[in-house]
Amino acid sequence: MILIDGKKAAAELREELKKEVIQLKEKYNRVPGLTVILIGDMAPSQIYVRNKEKSANEVGLKSEVIKYPDSVEEKTVLKKIKELNNDENVSGILVQLPLPKHIDKQKVIETIIPSKDVDGFHPMNVGNLSSGYESSVPCTPLGCYLMIKKVEPNLSGKKAVVVGRSNLNGKPMTQLLLKENCTVTVTHSRTKDLKAECLEADIIVAAVGIPELVKGDWVKKDAIVIDVGINKTEKGLVGDVAFDEVSKVAKALTPVPGGVGPMTIACLLKNTIECFKRSQI
Ligand code: GUN
Repeated sequence: MILIDGKKAAAELREELKKEVIQLKEKYNRVPGLTVILIGDMAPSQIYVRNKEKSANEVGLKSEVIKYPDSVEEKTVLKKIKELNNDENVSGILVQLPLPKHIDKQKVIETIIPSKDVDGFHPMNVGNLSSGYESSVPCTPLGCYLMIKKVEPNLSGKKAVVVGRSNLNGKPMTQLLLKENCTVTVTHSRTKDLKAECLEADIIVAAVGIPELVKGDWVKKDAIVIDVGINKTEKGLVGDVAFDEVSKVAKALTPVPGGVGPMTIACLLKNTIECFKRSQI
């Protein structure tokens, strides 16, 4: 079984990006900049944002974190986003989710100019991705996609099952696999026989947030299994895949932690650089 090492894959991607940033600096005399807006003091968000900032600095990007208290008014955040939209030193803008209830998530997403939307959440980027046009692609599914391609460069005709239909993961993942000519089944909470669907798959991407949902006897021999889940349980952090069981049948599997997580952050840096490059044309 191939244990897909997300930490190693992310480190390799960061090395490539570091070199690219040096070249961009020589060519344009400036480096791409990422600005993250963090609202409130939720511990997981604080940790994610700190990791994003650290990784951005490591590859030589300019990075800035703007922090607001939980009580910040929506209009203050929207005004700041508009300012950043017009700031030529800012290549990418990310507003860390989740947001406090009084702030309209969709309004925030739609206020970020699509050309700086490093999350790929703006409806214009969502539409471009589903039409097969150039766009920012959400970081988590992009990381999953790059890891799948490392194991299996030719995905044409493969049967893929995506477990979960979220805007963050399941839907963009589906689009990326379709682009690679996979036959994709999108499953969700109302799917009648999830086990039977998974058993058909050459590739499974599990992104539902249910601890160890995908069992060993749900997986076809030699399938590639990508686990997007991070669930806190009594026995610690576990994914959406029953790791021990599935590792006995799969060809390749991502661990939790150390799989999809590190790649997500590296892909955010990649997206920031892509936004910068597109803005220079
Ligand atoms: N919170 C958890 N994951 C993400 C992500 O990919 N982007 C943003 N903006 N917030 C998140």
